[in-house]
Amino acid sequence: MKDKLIEKLIKAEEKRQAEGLELIPSENYVSEDVLKANGSVFTNKYSEGYPGKRYYGGQENTDAVERLAIERACKLFNCKFANVQPLSGAPANVATYFALMEPGDTIMGMDLSHGGHLTHGSPVTYISKIFKFIRYKMKNIETGEIDYDDMLKVAMKEKPKIILAGFSAYSRELDYKKFIKIAHKVGAITMADMAHIAGLIAGKAVRNPFTDGFDIITTTTHKTLRGPRGGMILIRDNEEIAKKIDKSIFPGLQGGPHMNNIAAKAVAFGEALTPAFKKYTKQILKNAKVMAEVFRKNKIRMIGGGTDNHLILADVYGSLGVTGKEAQDVLDEVGITLNKNMIAEDPRKPMDPSGIRFGTPAITTRGFKEKECRRVAELMILVLKNKNNKKIKESAHKKIKALAKKFPIPKKFV
Ligand SMILES: Cc1ncc(COP(=O)(O)O)c(C=O)c1O
Repeated sequence: MKDKLIEKLIKAEEKRQAEGLELIPSENYVSEDVLKANGSVFTNKYSEGYPGKRYYGGQENTDAVERLAIERACKLFNCKFANVQPLSGAPANVATYFALMEPGDTIMGMDLSHGGHLTHGSPVTYISKIFKFIRYKMKNIETGEIDYDDMLKVAMKEKPKIILAGFSAYSRELDYKKFIKIAHKVGAITMADMAHIAGLIAGKAVRNPFTDGFDIITTTTHKTLRGPRGGMILIRDNEEIAKKIDKSIFPGLQGGPHMNNIAAKAVAFGEALTPAFKKYTKQILKNAKVMAEVFRKNKIRMIGGGTDNHLILADVYGSLGVTGKEAQDVLDEVGITLNKNMIAEDPRKPMDPSGIRFGTPAITTRGFKEKECRRVAELMILVLKNKNNKKIKESAHKKIKALAKKFPIPKKFV
């Protein structure tokens, strides 16, 4: 590479990823083939429009790539229509809102402090100035059970156009049938933002909202799905909705699609269609359960009481007197990356909350099984309980490095 400054930084990032353990639940490692497609000459091409209906010439290869990505996405999630052009998860959500609502309309999503995402209506987003967001919450923070009764009551009163399931920091399975029942009562469309668990759905490790009759799924492609950074919108079977979504992405929100990124999505979907991927997603769940077990044994409170998916949200401040920021920093020191996170009804502030959020998608890609995950959880707790003990931290760091060395990031998955 001619640009030595950037080359050096790429190498440094490769080293950081290789030597540390990645526990941020929204991160993962892609295969060499996904990287190759993402770095391909498709980045040179403008392809505004959709396959067969483009504004520029020279589309014989881009059309084929996008058709393949769509076909594989539909097979993977068992639906009829897919738009693979969203540049990421946030624009996928914004485009869906605009496709189905008028300014001032109401949408019901999970409360941010109970696990929802910024794009589900945080007051700091532009969309919150355009649409009215109403919330549902957990009924019981210790079990993670959603308050479906209150949800119905509020929905009957507010008549949302969309009822949105989905989360960034929630560890239990949602009861999609209950969402649908409420939506039918108020005439709302059901939308599931499955950004975090898309890979788990694709691998059939958790339930697919389409099986219960959800209308739309939005997602990122770079988390458990193990593809390039990007987004996608899936429509179960309603062609009218699919047409509105297409128009909303282009020309409504975006310009030319990033065809290199769509090629990489197609490769990742191909990988996700293999039996090896199914096995991978089941292992993600087993690994998360083992880590939760260690936290439970050590009497560390977990929001929702444990996990049914890939992530755990632990109240380290309430249980150990270590703040989320302190925990994130001290674990960083020993080679474990995760993120501080607000917990439901958090007495602390977002920049130094009570919780940490961590998960198993990336370490499972490395080949970690239950034994290694148990060890990592034990080391995490040891470090958190001894955050000022240099000797213990040094010893833990050595063990983490050794684990990372023993399980290098694979380049191929199939
Ligand atoms: C549930 C959910 N939706 C949407 C997004 C936004 O995705 P992106 O960061 O790719 O825009 C995220 C990202 O964390 C997410 O967790």
